[in-house]
Amino acid sequence: MTSTERRVLLAAPRGYCAGVDRAVVTVEKALDLYGPPVYVRKQIVHNKHVVSSLEERGAIFVGELDEVPEGAMVVFSAHGVAPYVHEQARDRSLRTIDATCPLVTKVHNEARRFAANGRDILLIGHAGHEEVEGTAGEAPDHIQLVQGPEDVDRIEVRDPSNVAWLSQTTLSVDETMQTVERLREKFPQLMDPPSDDICYATQNRQIAVKEIAHQADLMIVVGSANSSNSVRLVEVALEAGATAAYRVDNASEVEGAWLDGVSVVGVTSGASVPDSLVEGVLDLLTERGFPPAEEVRTAEESLIFALPPELRKGLRAAP
Ligand code: F3S
Repeated sequence: MTSTERRVLLAAPRGYCAGVDRAVVTVEKALDLYGPPVYVRKQIVHNKHVVSSLEERGAIFVGELDEVPEGAMVVFSAHGVAPYVHEQARDRSLRTIDATCPLVTKVHNEARRFAANGRDILLIGHAGHEEVEGTAGEAPDHIQLVQGPEDVDRIEVRDPSNVAWLSQTTLSVDETMQTVERLREKFPQLMDPPSDDICYATQNRQIAVKEIAHQADLMIVVGSANSSNSVRLVEVALEAGATAAYRVDNASEVEGAWLDGVSVVGVTSGASVPDSLVEGVLDLLTERGFPPAEEVRTAEESLIFALPPELRKGLRAAP
């Protein structure tokens, strides 16, 4: 093999989505405005590097609100929180900024609306994921978790003619549709969400990976292990025909042996990943004799979300 036969295909869109960008900027601006410490419930976004950078600036990440001193400032993560968390914050007189992604809030609103109409809600998602806990908390008596098609047989509902489905925002589109098909076989009157719950960023990153993966001997996905959408990108790459696909937090986790005999490397990153980490992987590939990356773009993204209103109010009032 000569170096001219080698290629690096770089997926676009990749990396930060509008909800992650807003959440990270929210913590940065809260630190500037109120000074450290600013507490953050759970990881603001599921990326080790982002969390440790914010820790260096004075953010303190906690698992639950009982770890936050009374009266302190706390930011809720992009994944959203159940209503009981807002109640806890009020009980402890915490000052809060809610950095829940607006596209997660949309799913919360759908859950409340379906529940208000007495529907059983089948929430497709992963047990234990913070987003699922937050959404399920909106209507705990109405929501059941469905992790995949294999769960469908055991589901029982109060009224099979009054059932709706919702999903986590960061799932594999194809797998979710398989689950929905199974659900519809069992509940023919199953009601769809008013619009896609799997968000634009998740969908765009999966489409971009598919475009590259079928040509790739190796697909490298930059993202942390607890990042749902990053883990899904590895699965989507393999399903789309990549010979091998690995998730790494950063370039130091790329194993030399993965590159042996490889001609075409695809590179992408999850929605919580700063592009500097992707650049690190591209630099490593250059050191290993690969040529500059060719960007393969399948969509343009221009969505920007306004900062949380409570933060904007604080910024307006600042001297
Ligand atoms: Fe929001 Fe989707 Fe990003 S739900 S946080 S835009 S991955």
